[in-house]
Amino acid sequence: MSNTFKKTPAKKDSPQEPGGLRKSLTSYGDNGFSLFLRKAFIKGAGYTDSALDRPVIGIVNTGSAYNPCHGNAPQLIEAVKRGVMLAGGLPMDFPTISIHESFSHPTSMYLRNLMSMDTEEMIRAQPMDAVVLIGGCDKTVPAQLMGAASANIPTIQLITGSMLTGAHRGEHVGACTDCRRYWECFRAEEIDETEIAAMNNQLVASVGTCSVMGTASTMACIAEALGMTVPGGASPPAVTSDRMRVAEMTGTQAVQMARDGLTIDHILTAEAFENAMRVLLAIGGSTNGIVHLTAIAGRMGYDVDLQALDRIGRETPVLVDLKPSGSHYMEDFHKAGGMATLLRELKPLLNLDALTVTGRTLGEEIEAAGSAFAQDVVRPFDKPIFPQGGIAVLQGNLAPGGAIIKQSAADAKLMEHEGRAVVFENAADLASRIDSDELDVNADDILVLKNIGPKGAPGMPEAGYIPIPRKLATAGVKDMVRISDGRMSGTAFGTIVLNVTPESAVGGPLAYVQSGDRIRLSVSKREISLLVTDAELATRAAQQHVTIPTAERGYRKLFFDTVTQADKGVDFDFLRATEHRGNTPRK
Ligand code: FES
Repeated sequence: MSNTFKKTPAKKDSPQEPGGLRKSLTSYGDNGFSLFLRKAFIKGAGYTDSALDRPVIGIVNTGSAYNPCHGNAPQLIEAVKRGVMLAGGLPMDFPTISIHESFSHPTSMYLRNLMSMDTEEMIRAQPMDAVVLIGGCDKTVPAQLMGAASANIPTIQLITGSMLTGAHRGEHVGACTDCRRYWECFRAEEIDETEIAAMNNQLVASVGTCSVMGTASTMACIAEALGMTVPGGASPPAVTSDRMRVAEMTGTQAVQMARDGLTIDHILTAEAFENAMRVLLAIGGSTNGIVHLTAIAGRMGYDVDLQALDRIGRETPVLVDLKPSGSHYMEDFHKAGGMATLLRELKPLLNLDALTVTGRTLGEEIEAAGSAFAQDVVRPFDKPIFPQGGIAVLQGNLAPGGAIIKQSAADAKLMEHEGRAVVFENAADLASRIDSDELDVNADDILVLKNIGPKGAPGMPEAGYIPIPRKLATAGVKDMVRISDGRMSGTAFGTIVLNVTPESAVGGPLAYVQSGDRIRLSVSKREISLLVTDAELATRAAQQHVTIPTAERGYRKLFFDTVTQADKGVDFDFLRATEHRGNTPRK
C-alpha cells in the first residue's frame, strides 16, 4: 500500500468546514445565534475569546469509582491537557460510560456496544477537532475505537496502562492469570481460606489494567499496532512517569492531527488490521481480540476473513513471553522495550506503509525506535515460544461459522483428542452440577456448555473457562477439552474451544449436542466435529424447538433484536458500516 495521506488543514472559518467551537452547532435555526449562545455559556466557566479560538481537543474521560483499571484517569487527563495546551489547542474533557470487567452485570460485553454508541454520538454532538480516547479495561478500548471509527474525526487512543504486580511468598503475582490459578488451587483444596484471603490482597497491586497478556493488554498492543497510539503507547504501567509522558505526547499529537485533518479512516485500513492481527498472534493475545478487531473492522467496512487469519497464524510465531502463554508481566514487557522490540522482530511480516497517528508510517516509527538490546521477554523471530500464532481457527459440523482455540495457552497433549461429551444446558445448569459427586465425568471427557453466546446469556460472557469438576480437580486433573459458544478471559489457560458459531441460542448445531455423544478436536487439522450423522442432527433439530431469546423493552430489546454473531464481532447490525470495502487480512 502506498501512503496517500495529504494534510488537509481544517478551514475553521469556512461555512462549509467549520472548526473549533463552530462545529456541531445546536439547531436553533440561526447558526450565528447558536455560536453566540454557546460562547456565552462556556465563558461562564471563565474562558477568553483567545482560548475559544484554538483547535478544540475532546478528551474522553472514563474515570469512575467503579473502574479501578482507570484509576489514574485524573492524572492522565491533566497530562493530556498539558500536551494540548503546549501545542496551542484547547482541551475539553467529557464523560462517557466506563466499563469494568468485575462491575458489569450481566457481563461487560453486553455493554460494549452501548459504550461505543455513547462514544460515537458524543464525539458527533460536541464541537471538537480531534479526540483523545482514554481507555484500558477490556471492553473500553474496543468500544472507543468502534465509536470513533464511525464518527471519523482525527482520533488518538491513550491507554491507561497496566497495574503493578504484587508478591505472595516471594513469587510475583498479578491479575488475573494468578487469580484463576490460585482459585483452582483453592477449589482443589491445595490451599486454605487463610491463604486465598491473603492472595486477594496481592493480586492487584495498584490501579491499572490486568498485568498479564489478557484482553486489556492485548487491546493496548493492538491499538499501537493499528497505528492508533503514539509510539510506545501500549506498555507503560499506569502509575509510571512513562505513562504520564505518553499522555502529554498524546495531547500534543492530537493538536497536530487536528491541524493536519488526519482522520481515523486514513489509519484504520485493511493493512493496519492485518498488522494488528499479526501482533495479536505474536503476543499470544486474548481470543477476545479477534471479536473486538472484527467489530472495529466492521465499522470501517471490512470483514475479517477467518481462514486468512488462520493462514497468517501458521506463519506468525508467538514471541512475547507473558502470562498466560509465558511467564512475564506487562511491566517486564515495558522494560524490554515494549512494542518497538516486538515490531522490530515482526518487521518482515508487517505492512510497513500503514499510517499512524504521528503522520508517519509504522515502518518509519520502527526505524525511529532505535536498535535492539539484550532482554528475555520478546524472543527473536527464529527462537519463538510457540512456532505458530497463538490462536487457531477451527471448523466442522459443530461450528459451521467457525470457532477458535488459544493453542498457545492449551495443553499440548489435548490438541488431538476424541472424547465423550458431558453437556451443560446453560450457566445455571453448570453451576448446579459441576461440583456434584454424582456428575458422570472422567478426565478424558469433553465438557460442553451451551447458551453463553451473544444472545444466549446474553452478552457472550467469559464463561467459556469451564471449571474442572471438583472431583476431578481434587484428583489432580488440571486441564480438559472444553467447548462453548461463549468467550473466556484472555488471562485464562486451558484447552478451551470458544466462539462456536452460530451459537446454540439461535439453533446452531451446538444446541443439539447430547451427553454421551462423541466429539473430535484436531488442532492440526483445524477440526471440531460432532461425531453424529447429519440425519440424526436433523432429527434432533426437528424435535427440539429452540426459542430465540427476546426482550420487551429498553437496551435489552435493542441488544436481542440487533446483536450479531461472533464472526461479525458481536456488534449491532445497524452500527456496522453500510459500505463493504473488502476483507482483511488480504492474504
Ligand atoms: Fe480491567 Fe482486567 S479487569 S483490565
